[in-house]
Amino acid sequence: MDKYLINPNQKIATINKDLYGHFSEHLGRCIYEGLYVGEDSAIPNVNGMRSDAVQALKEMGIPVLRWPGGCFADEYHWRDGIGDKASRKKMINTHWGGVVEDNSFGTHEYFELCRQLGCDTYINGNVGSGTVQEMSEWVEYMTFDGTSPMAELRAKNGREKPWKVKYFGVGNESWGCGGNMDPEYYGCLFKRYNTYCRDYKAGEHILRIACGPNVDDYHWTKEVMDKVKHHANGISLHYYTIPTGNWHHKGSATQFDNKEYNSTICKAYRMEELITNHLAMMDSINPQRWVKLIVDEWGTWYDVEPGTNPGFLYQQNTMRDAIVAALTLNIFNKHADRLMMANIAQTVNVLQAVLLTDGKKMVKTPTYHVFKMYKEHQNNTLLGSYITSDEIVSENDDNKAFPQLIESASEDENGVIYATVANTSATKQAKLRCQIADRRISTVTAEILTGDCHDKNDFDAPDVVTPQPFDGFRKHTDGFTATLPPCSVVKFVIRP
Ligand code: AHR
Repeated sequence: MDKYLINPNQKIATINKDLYGHFSEHLGRCIYEGLYVGEDSAIPNVNGMRSDAVQALKEMGIPVLRWPGGCFADEYHWRDGIGDKASRKKMINTHWGGVVEDNSFGTHEYFELCRQLGCDTYINGNVGSGTVQEMSEWVEYMTFDGTSPMAELRAKNGREKPWKVKYFGVGNESWGCGGNMDPEYYGCLFKRYNTYCRDYKAGEHILRIACGPNVDDYHWTKEVMDKVKHHANGISLHYYTIPTGNWHHKGSATQFDNKEYNSTICKAYRMEELITNHLAMMDSINPQRWVKLIVDEWGTWYDVEPGTNPGFLYQQNTMRDAIVAALTLNIFNKHADRLMMANIAQTVNVLQAVLLTDGKKMVKTPTYHVFKMYKEHQNNTLLGSYITSDEIVSENDDNKAFPQLIESASEDENGVIYATVANTSATKQAKLRCQIADRRISTVTAEILTGDCHDKNDFDAPDVVTPQPFDGFRKHTDGFTATLPPCSVVKFVIRP
């Protein structure tokens, strides 16, 4: 039997709600169709935003939304997406399928979407193909209150008051699609561009995000940190889980054997190593820890669904993805003292999406349900916790091992503890004895998401994977004993 200890006396940090953030790019059917259908659509919408998606995301608890890219951000020119829609410039989305981008979703539409979602904003600016002036004026357009050329242009386009930009990213993947730069060069560019992104409102600092490393590029982290440490609030890590590790044949989203399942979980678990190592590198440059780490792109990346546009990155989502989401969010929670934000890629119809749409139809994926189950962690206090666990060996990864049980626990202001545990094994159950230190508890309730690792929700069967009440546990005065089925995510709610 595994032991699970939760210590309410050890209050580690507030879990920034933005660790549960999302990322939506002008890519495939994420923005267009997935979130924005236009005012004239037959799909129910409010000001063009599809109502079913907005409702679902609000219920799930979306705290922040990153936009407009991704690779798209470094070829996006914001002026193309303002003003009269009929005369907005059309462009080719060269990164993603070569389709025509009509710019009908632009700055005003993004802020309207965030208003409807009730979430904070994270705009990614263009360093790769944009100018300092262009970036500077975008920030002025969005945030200047008073008389200025950009504020007047904004008012002319129907918005008198400025918006609030919480985070601003200066370039995306500048080591790759954002300009193929060296870290030293990018670090200098960051300082130059960032200088002219002004904070226009007294007391309201826009949090500046520098482009951070790809996966395990610690050299990038070191060199960029060295340049930006006095200027950036955060530096962003990108890490995707690719089951085969091969970009040319990543593996199917729905058809995989047990070895590939284990390899997926093993690779997702690598997030722990990457966060730990990048933080250590950041500490060596900035021991005062001014600069936070963010993970603004993460998730599974498979071969696209057969018959779909390869440039649209549309993939199905199974219980395997739910396990990836659950373990990753637990890892993020555990690093709450150092992580400021994380953004799963991408909200709808792209990569590890929480929603899939087909015309008027929409389904919530297993990943959606994990985010919803975990939403109470947002802004809670991370507690010290520890679990013993068997290890699972991934044959496809040189027998690298990952834990069968991965957990985190937090407490709200009423002393209610939320413990989320992922049983990552596709085949083995786990027995658990949980003890809460120094506390007598009155009730425990639990919810479970489980199934065969291939189970999915589809348009003709949308509720195959949904959370259910869980009664596979016995309460004790100091905790509980539970048996977790294979491939499961369980949330325990423990009341004092
Ligand atoms: O999320 C898809 C793409 O992955 C993003 O555009 C890019 O930043 C990353 O390479």
